[in-house]
Amino acid sequence: MKILYFTATGNSLYVAKKLGGQLLSIPQLVKAKVDEIEDNAVGVVCPVYCGELPRMVREFLLKAKIGTNYFFFVLTYGMNETTARFHAGALCDEIGLRLDYADAVLMVDNYLPGFEMREQMDSVAQKDIEGQLARITDHIRQRKKQTVTVSPLKKAEMALIHRAMGKRILTPDAAKHYIVTDACIRCGVCERVCPADNVKVADTVTFGSRCEVCYACVHNCPQGAIHLKNEKSAVRFRNENVSLSEISDSNGRSYQT
Ligand SMILES: Cc1cc2nc3c(=O)[nH]c(=O)nc-3n(C[C@H](O)[C@H](O)[C@H](O)COP(=O)(O)O)c2cc1C
Repeated sequence: MKILYFTATGNSLYVAKKLGGQLLSIPQLVKAKVDEIEDNAVGVVCPVYCGELPRMVREFLLKAKIGTNYFFFVLTYGMNETTARFHAGALCDEIGLRLDYADAVLMVDNYLPGFEMREQMDSVAQKDIEGQLARITDHIRQRKKQTVTVSPLKKAEMALIHRAMGKRILTPDAAKHYIVTDACIRCGVCERVCPADNVKVADTVTFGSRCEVCYACVHNCPQGAIHLKNEKSAVRFRNENVSLSEISDSNGRSYQT
């Protein structure tokens, strides 16, 4: 089994590790220009962004040639995922790949403009992440079939809301509005955890125009020096079972202390 994953703060990597199989980071596959994936089972694990899939995941899958008998999606999210599972199905239709199974895991919501991170982290126990993972792992082991159907009315309503939200929030130049404070020691972590090579650290930190709006740079900064103007919290999050070097290995170059 091969698991293709995308992660910024480790939730999706944690889920990918728990599912087992060979883990392949989508940003690394993109950088290596690898798009042929074959195995008896192939899955994608990634976060939900504004009810959609991350842009890099979508673009990778649009180009990829995937050969498998069992294809699945497991999405990680913090509040509401239904449209993303639906979009995953629609994308599979578009690329002519049968989606056998789609599920989602409710975890910490890392969306800083929407949530206070300490409250989110404190809510972990109520979310029974291990219980959700046990169920999904079992389903995948049994090659269970499960996809989401949405009524046409609900589909139109959700598409409208999420597309409008996404257009405003998920803009490729989003990082240009991030604020880097004097706490920055130019350690380069933000550059190394960016899945899109969109951050450069020299005398100052500069952001380009291909931001995935994943907040990997913001959440993983060891100094807490990168901020959004509209963040609800100065507290930062990384999944407790995932290290900074794992994020860096997944998204950029290795993390060296
Ligand atoms: C820009 C952005 C948009 C998001 N939109 C949603 C959303 O629509 N619904 C939701 O439930 N969670 C949303 N989230 C939360 C993430 O999907 C969630 O925290 C995810 O588990 C993070 O995965 P990661 O740790 O692998 O990066 C959003 C996060 C970001 C950064």
